[in-house]
Amino acid sequence: MTPYMPVHWTGATLAALTLLHALGSGSLIASPALSPSSLSAAPNAQTLYIGCATTPSVLFMETATGRITRSTVLPSPASGLTLRGDGSMLYVTCPAPQSTVCEIDTSTGRVVRTMEVGHTASDPVLSPDERSLFVCARFDNRIDQIDLASGRVMRRLIAPREPVSAAVTPDGRHLLVANHLQAGRADADVVRATVTVLDLRTGGMVKELELPNGSTLLRDLRISPDGRHAVVVHQLARFHLPTTQIERGWINTSAMSLIDLQTLDLLTTVLLDNINAGAANPWAVAWDTDGSRIMTTHAGTHELSIIDFPALLERIHRLGSGGLPDETLSASRTLADIPNDLAFLVGLRQRIQLTAADRGPRSLVVAGGRAWIGNFFSDTLSVIDLDDPDSPVRSIALGSCSEDPAERRGEAYFNDATLCFQGWQSCASCHSNDARVDGMNWDNLNDGIGNPKNSKSLLLAPDTPPMMWLGVRADSAAAVRAGIPHALFTVQPEEVATALDAYLRSLSPMPSPHLEQGRLSLAGERGRKLFFSETTRCANCHRGDLYTDQKQHRVGTIGRYDAPADRFDTPSLVEIWRTAPFLHDGSALTVKEVLTSSNPDDLHGQTSHLTPQEIEDLATFLLSL
Ligand code: HEC
Ligand code: HEC
Repeated sequence: MTPYMPVHWTGATLAALTLLHALGSGSLIASPALSPSSLSAAPNAQTLYIGCATTPSVLFMETATGRITRSTVLPSPASGLTLRGDGSMLYVTCPAPQSTVCEIDTSTGRVVRTMEVGHTASDPVLSPDERSLFVCARFDNRIDQIDLASGRVMRRLIAPREPVSAAVTPDGRHLLVANHLQAGRADADVVRATVTVLDLRTGGMVKELELPNGSTLLRDLRISPDGRHAVVVHQLARFHLPTTQIERGWINTSAMSLIDLQTLDLLTTVLLDNINAGAANPWAVAWDTDGSRIMTTHAGTHELSIIDFPALLERIHRLGSGGLPDETLSASRTLADIPNDLAFLVGLRQRIQLTAADRGPRSLVVAGGRAWIGNFFSDTLSVIDLDDPDSPVRSIALGSCSEDPAERRGEAYFNDATLCFQGWQSCASCHSNDARVDGMNWDNLNDGIGNPKNSKSLLLAPDTPPMMWLGVRADSAAAVRAGIPHALFTVQPEEVATALDAYLRSLSPMPSPHLEQGRLSLAGERGRKLFFSETTRCANCHRGDLYTDQKQHRVGTIGRYDAPADRFDTPSLVEIWRTAPFLHDGSALTVKEVLTSSNPDDLHGQTSHLTPQEIEDLATFLLSL
């Protein structure tokens, strides 16, 4: 096989990119991180298209040499890409409050058309007839269907919460959508995110596929080449247990759910961890071209799993038909046991560690008999020969990032499960996506046992001490230093904590999908007046730019697990449009509930005198922050 050449940035590349990159062999000029996060391969496997998540570009790479031959500048960084079957056109999603899809002619590298879609677009997918493009509009809870003839959104399909990945069945009848987060209250017995199945003739929902209790943080969903199965990877949170033990997945496990596309039912959910080694943060998924293997990256442990699919199906069917478990270590006696069985994949899966130079595998494509993996934090591609997966993994540097600012290091640590005992989870396993939330309740030990709390977004945490719902940590630095032993179960050098501090300080709010052209709507304006009026008294506690007095209060929200004397720290209200459910115990599904059913005695501001329209207006204001 051709040895891979180190990548040299050519003059043409430099001209195209408005950035300064490395010139010549290894000499550096300051260059920002690329963060390769989406991949697509030309039908002849000679070119790879690499979407960068932190520079506005798509790179064209020659697979034989590893050379970057071209780069196309985009309006903003890329979150996903897909190619027409004949390889002529590439569609790239550029996320923003109003996202853009760029259509790129692959023969010239030019953007020939741009199309507008919803908030934070990702994972574009073509319909089988290639007349439509479906794009997840994550924060609008929607899939936008673009008619490629006109370039306009022809239909908006609804998904419950944060759709991040979608696939169309080969017959064009159904669209399957992976919802990143659960959409219910967090204090229920069953809390899980779903896969939404939509009927593409009517646009209506066929069903919500219920994954096992605790399923969350869904990522890639992909359909097998024969169209008979779909696979989606996710986390399986053991949220009903106190977070006292991490081994054997007692806090978080990593999973893969298989969907039978003939019946549109969940076949089963298989754990991706081993008994003594977590495989945290499963992310990208690909099928081998003949459907014989499923591959998934583990972004937290920097690995690739290669799973023998026919053998897995056989093991599932044998169990389902009452057959005795085979000679493996599997503990399953019935199909219902599989989602708790850390040994079900023994003998069916190869776990491949990427090289030490490869950090954060978040994208994956199979081309030319190889698995190509884009590593977010190291700006490298990993290459694995699928004919000989045991041969050494190769790593290709895409550019040399000369700066390594503390916030970027901190972000890498935040997402790195190798800092955790046995690789079970990372900070991002609960504070998903730029250190926000997972929508779950967790019984952390910072305030005693038996009183689960809804996870908190870490946006603005450094500016709003004290920390935690009960204010039990003095500030975010203290919370970070307590989080390492309690969430990762290890001791780390101070450098890890200071980089995490820098990362948290670097977070900035994202504009709300409830704004209109970046502005408060009329309803939002009316709500703003109510919020600041003396009749509601909201601003007495939700004060200043960050909407918090940083003090603890009793506001009539004590739940069945709380101590009667508990006082809760006034939360900031910035970005609450993306942190449902609400209150310390996740007992309010909507902001409106916070203002109504959760405030029956006017102990939490004064709301009982407000008309339904005024409640609506106030909620619109809050959701616009
Ligand atoms: C098992 C899930 C889980 C993991 C893993 C986790 N956290 Fe948290 N985190 C939570 C929950 C739940 C809360 C809210 C708890 C409370 O208020 O009592 C929280 C709160 C915080 C807060 C306080 C935020 C605020 O505004 O009050 C910080 C800071 C924090 N976590 C940092 C981290 C860091 C750093 C890591 C990794 C070392 C981490 N967390 C890992 C669940 C988790
Ligand atoms: C006495 C101080 C105080 C007043 C007045 C007050 N709040 Fe709060 N607010 C809090 C506290 C404390 C919490 C957390 C309560 C809990 O988690 O149980 C909270 C929580 C919230 C939340 C949920 C945030 C989240 O992330 O879960 C919203 C929304 C909210 N308040 C809006 C309002 C509005 C609107 C008003 C006016 C009608 C108001 N608050 C008046 C102190 C106050």
